[in-house]
Amino acid sequence: RHPGWPARLGPLRVAAGLLEVRKPRLSDAAAWSRIRRRDRRHLEAWEPTTPGDWDANNAALAWPGQWSTLRALARRGMSLPFVVTVDGQVAGQVTVGNIVRGSLCSAWIGYWVGTHAVRGGVATAAAALVVDHCFFNAGLHRLEATVRPENAPSIRVLTKLGFREEGLFRRYLDVAGTWRDHLCFALTTEDVPSGLIAKLVADGRAARA
Ligand code: ACO
Repeated sequence: RHPGWPARLGPLRVAAGLLEVRKPRLSDAAAWSRIRRRDRRHLEAWEPTTPGDWDANNAALAWPGQWSTLRALARRGMSLPFVVTVDGQVAGQVTVGNIVRGSLCSAWIGYWVGTHAVRGGVATAAAALVVDHCFFNAGLHRLEATVRPENAPSIRVLTKLGFREEGLFRRYLDVAGTWRDHLCFALTTEDVPSGLIAKLVADGRAARA
């Protein structure tokens, strides 16, 4: 077993409802697919390009493959993949990937939230739960979030959490069909000795439930 996996995080009360973070389930297929297919225009401009067709890649039939890949990576200690629920319904995902241990103890964090649940503090609170889990339970020291400079809502999420902008990575990631510049934001354990949930609660953005 790798530190920090499996895990169940929350609940937290946010504007959108009662938020929980848990491991992906095979039975998430229908809800996951319905949101991802409906929200193609909302998601595609910001996510890594995947070969093939959006509807096929996000069909309910595509979920078992994704789910088992995520589970295998988590079991090997390389990833911490989470599904976010609001009032018990799937709202999005938060994934910690490329976990490197040793003298780096670092990983990236990424997230998406469906249009039915945006602007209610979901991404911010879910990321805060996952960051605290990484720092306090999974033994990580640093988390990086890379975001396109055009992605104002995501930059706002990182700013609310207190991530520090550290630089611009040129032509960093293949997103929406071409190599896109990304801003790199980061946080280390020293930045948040009492954790991000404590900060969100103090800022009035979430309440422990
Ligand atoms: N311009 C500026 N700010 C905006 C805009 C906009 N067009 N739209 C929303 N915002 C603000 C909101 O007002 C809110 O800030 P506030 O609390 O100060 O009012 C903030 O952005 C969003 O905060 P949350 O409500 O916590 O986030 P939400 O649950 O809405 O999810 C997310 C944000 C994840 C970016 C969602 O819009 C999404 O899934 N987008 C598509 C996929 C994506 O971009 N994922 C992130 C990729 S980068 C990465 O993973 C590091």
